[in-house]
Amino acid sequence: MKEEQIRELLEDMSTEEKIGQLLQLTGAFYADEGLATGPMQQMQLSQEQVEQAGSVLSTVGAATLKKIQTAYMEKQPHHIPLMFMADVINGYRTVFPIPLALGCSFEPEIMRKTSEISAREMARAGVHVTFSPMVDLVRDARWGRVMESTGEDTYLNRCFAKAAIEGYQGAGVGTKDHVAACMKHFAGYGSPVGGREYNQVEVSERSLFEDYLPAYKTGVDAGTKMVMTSFNTLGRIPCTGNQELMKGILREQWGYDGVVISDWAAIHELIEHGVARDEDEAAYLAMQAGVDIDMMTNVYALHLKDQLASGKVTMDQLDAAVYRILNLKNELGLFENPFKDADESYDESKKPDGEHTKYAREILPETFVLLKNDGILPLSKEPVDTCKSIAFIGPFMKEIDVCGAWSFFNRKEENVTLEQAVNERELSMPYTIEEGCHTVPYGMRFVGIRGEVVNPYTPEELGVLKANAVASAKQADVVVMALGEHSFFSGEGGARTQITIPEHQMELFRAVAEVNPNIAVVTFSGRPLDLREVNEKAKAILHVWFPGTETGHAVMDVLFGDASPSGRLSMSFPYCVGQVPVYYNELHTGRQYIDGTETSRFFSKYIDAPNHPLYVFGYGLDYTEYRYDNLVLDGNQVTKDRPITVSVDVTNVGKRAGKEVVQMYLQDLVGSVARPVRELKGFEKVALSAGEKKTITFTITEEMLRFYDRNMNYVSEPGEFKVYVGGNSDAELSAGFQLV
Ligand code: BGC
Repeated sequence: MKEEQIRELLEDMSTEEKIGQLLQLTGAFYADEGLATGPMQQMQLSQEQVEQAGSVLSTVGAATLKKIQTAYMEKQPHHIPLMFMADVINGYRTVFPIPLALGCSFEPEIMRKTSEISAREMARAGVHVTFSPMVDLVRDARWGRVMESTGEDTYLNRCFAKAAIEGYQGAGVGTKDHVAACMKHFAGYGSPVGGREYNQVEVSERSLFEDYLPAYKTGVDAGTKMVMTSFNTLGRIPCTGNQELMKGILREQWGYDGVVISDWAAIHELIEHGVARDEDEAAYLAMQAGVDIDMMTNVYALHLKDQLASGKVTMDQLDAAVYRILNLKNELGLFENPFKDADESYDESKKPDGEHTKYAREILPETFVLLKNDGILPLSKEPVDTCKSIAFIGPFMKEIDVCGAWSFFNRKEENVTLEQAVNERELSMPYTIEEGCHTVPYGMRFVGIRGEVVNPYTPEELGVLKANAVASAKQADVVVMALGEHSFFSGEGGARTQITIPEHQMELFRAVAEVNPNIAVVTFSGRPLDLREVNEKAKAILHVWFPGTETGHAVMDVLFGDASPSGRLSMSFPYCVGQVPVYYNELHTGRQYIDGTETSRFFSKYIDAPNHPLYVFGYGLDYTEYRYDNLVLDGNQVTKDRPITVSVDVTNVGKRAGKEVVQMYLQDLVGSVARPVRELKGFEKVALSAGEKKTITFTITEEMLRFYDRNMNYVSEPGEFKVYVGGNSDAELSAGFQLV
């Protein structure tokens, strides 16, 4: 449809129809007769209002959506199609690792490709828009939703935001097998005070602009077709009614002209936040902020008509919102083909696409982070003196819920467990598999966003599980333990004050460690964990997050050395929860403290814990080692027009091939405002065979040295800088240069 046709359509629509476009409901409203009455009553919507709602969320499946679409379009006065949206976060049927793990790959191409595959799968299931990517910067591991982000670093987040949006949207959202991206949550949702879900956000204006906003801006530049508001306040104003943010920054400064959708019920929550007296005022505030779609409340549907009549809200405002929605429907090609790529045969397919799972298995080792290894890994495939038998122990040996909190569309029984993958290997040495305990503690019935998890065992049964595990550990040369938090412990509503492996699993770990010290632990989680005790007692730790459909295969590939782990942490692992929030690019204090260097009390430090996290941002081991030398700058002065090049030799000094993430950090020694101790400004993942050396180069431009000065101007200041290059954020190899 041409632009003028959209305008003509808009002119021809009734006010009710227009307001309808701004309403988003779940598929329950359109389910077979009878079902619709419940939710309709709760929301006080009339049949007519439901029949005119512009979009539907959380319902998938080609056959179902085609049916809903056909029935809807028949009744819609202008036969305008619905837009179907869903939370497809790290995969649809083929589930990839959670975004925090994808960030650990330091390989945005992987994010692009996984998003492309997810788009293909969800498009065939009838979905038009995915509520992804989530690009919120996260620094507090207590918050459950850190799993949905790509981590604590602004630059890394930007690279992944762009890749995800380009992967979902392809050459155009109307092209086959692509969908529109909805970047979320605008803005600052990743920093709730205390890590407590939905809590207020208190970031300084400078930090907001420098640390938090850039990834959203990159998403806008990458062409995201939709932006979701966030639940939190920013500067004490809830984002969904925040004009400075939504209008001032997003639309006016950044030129964003796509659709803005509220988060679930966030318009109504303006009342709970205490900035709107009632629904009428909430509708007004959200409208003024330029929020186009009201997700799952009746606030726009019930109040906009009166506000138009009284002149509080103008028809121009309403038309602008409706135009943006119709325009997206048009870009998706829905006026020509309202079913887009929906394909019933896809829903009925017995297994996920083999090519997709093959790719998942291939990339998983790039997201696994080897946190410790004193040589126990990789395990030998043949019996050797040190390993003639293996005991595999732990609840995650059999766990099928390994896709992270948001994997609504995954069929759990399709996920490959560790147990299944070991058995497939037909090992040439004796091995045992023991669960040892359940993933969640005895008596626990825990509600997640996808249902609930229950520990089904009696105390007697748990006693037997544990005894069997300890007995098998005693007899084996090597123990592999698979431990971690259940996926319901993270994700929305999954904030924790203790970020350890659950105590009942730690008891199992201790009991095993007492009888056999040769333990390699595979850890699962949706957040950085406090792994102090595991680090002390185990010989190796492989952190695999929630890897998705191909979990078992990929974990065994890495344990037995068919693949090397090449993930590097996208978020610091604290030494203990008391350090949180802890992140590498903090500011210098007036009393800077380096662990172990000062005995005086009056330094910026704790009296009962180090300052340094247990594992820093960018950290991760490999089955080989790398040496860095020859850091050379091709000049020592950067100017506006003349960047400098920094080169470094990276050599694989071990006996196996591997992939190293070469990271470049910059530090501004003196600024008009305090500057971070260092900031990631470049990275490259390099494959190196044993003994191979490669020279890696990065360019340092004046633009990389900019920041918000005293007057909030984004500028660079002449002076002294330092560049650090290495394999993590503690990189020591450095050189100085100037900006003139
Ligand atoms: C979440 C969003 C999600 C939406 C729709 C909300 O509760 O905050 O991230 O996209 O629900 O399911």
